[in-house]
Amino acid sequence: MILITGAKGLLGQEFVQHIPANQILSPSKEELDITSRQELQHYTKGKKIDVILNCAANRNAEQMEMDPGQSRAVSIDGPRNLAEFARDNGAALIHFSTDYVFDGKSNIPYKEQDPTGPLSAYGQLKRQGEEAVLEAGGTVLVIRTAWLFSAYGKDFVKTIRSLAQKNKEIRVIFDQVGSPCYAGDLARWVVEMLPQIKSGTREIYHLTNEGVCSWYDLAYLTVKGFGLATQVVPIHTHEYPQKAIRPHYSVLDKSKIKRDFNLQLRHYSDALTECIKQIILTEKK
Ligand SMILES: NC(=O)c1ccc[n+]([C@@H]2O[C@H](COP(=O)([O-])OP(=O)(O)OC[C@H]3O[C@@H](n4cnc5c(N)ncnc54)[C@H](OP(=O)(O)O)[C@@H]3O)[C@@H](O)[C@H]2O)c1
Repeated sequence: MILITGAKGLLGQEFVQHIPANQILSPSKEELDITSRQELQHYTKGKKIDVILNCAANRNAEQMEMDPGQSRAVSIDGPRNLAEFARDNGAALIHFSTDYVFDGKSNIPYKEQDPTGPLSAYGQLKRQGEEAVLEAGGTVLVIRTAWLFSAYGKDFVKTIRSLAQKNKEIRVIFDQVGSPCYAGDLARWVVEMLPQIKSGTREIYHLTNEGVCSWYDLAYLTVKGFGLATQVVPIHTHEYPQKAIRPHYSVLDKSKIKRDFNLQLRHYSDALTECIKQIILTEKK
């Protein structure tokens, strides 16, 4: 069985769409809080877990900046619980992390072994979560992804659409550049990787769609993709002050994962077109 933790979140819901229902356990936070070892033991009792896809997280960077302590448990202790459980029960843990572990001072795509330097509490906690799961031993893949968009959950694409529907003009940051990733593609790729994961593997991988853009570019394509006439205006980071500092450059180099798992990644703009169709379809249901 595949256990999807945080299954009601953006990425969790994508996994639920991409794996047959009889192969998954997809508890809500209320059914399985990953920070509780007892709940984990109780929920999995009598079930053979082969893989854990840890999608449980707090990714509200602004809130975390004000109160990082509140998110320690879900970002570090919970992932460690899952890694130890996986190790003790012969399962593999796939844990998701972020491009925000980097400081953004590079101007070439970040490789897995590049030094980290998180600028925000969110980035720091995610980095500590990476270390915690890798230290636990067993079979662990840390997948750093970035800028997720999806038909499910709260994301940039739906936020931009909603703002563009209400305004003649929207202002979007152009001096933060990264690698967008359609969570539907991410789920598909991870499912494709599962049979290829070797027991005892402990690795970090970078995985997003191909292509590089700014939030402004992504907003521009989103507005066009929904057929809206809203003007998208590029602004600097300082014109949209936020508590959590984001890296100016956080493009991820995917060479390692493409090589090790023979993945064919597509450009984010093609994925965005599919995601927009999916959003419209989901609304019609
Ligand atoms: N979204 C992005 O742009 C992005 C970018 C880079 C990396 N990532 C990483 O990708 C992973 C998935 O993110 P996502 O976008 O799917 O996040 P999400 O939509 O916020 O989903 C996270 C889910 O985890 C649940 N959760 C929170 N605390 C929990 C706990 N203690 N036990 C069990 N479940 C808990 C949340 O429930 P509540 O909502 O009820 O709290 C929510 O359903 C995270 O590790 C994130 O850091 C995301």
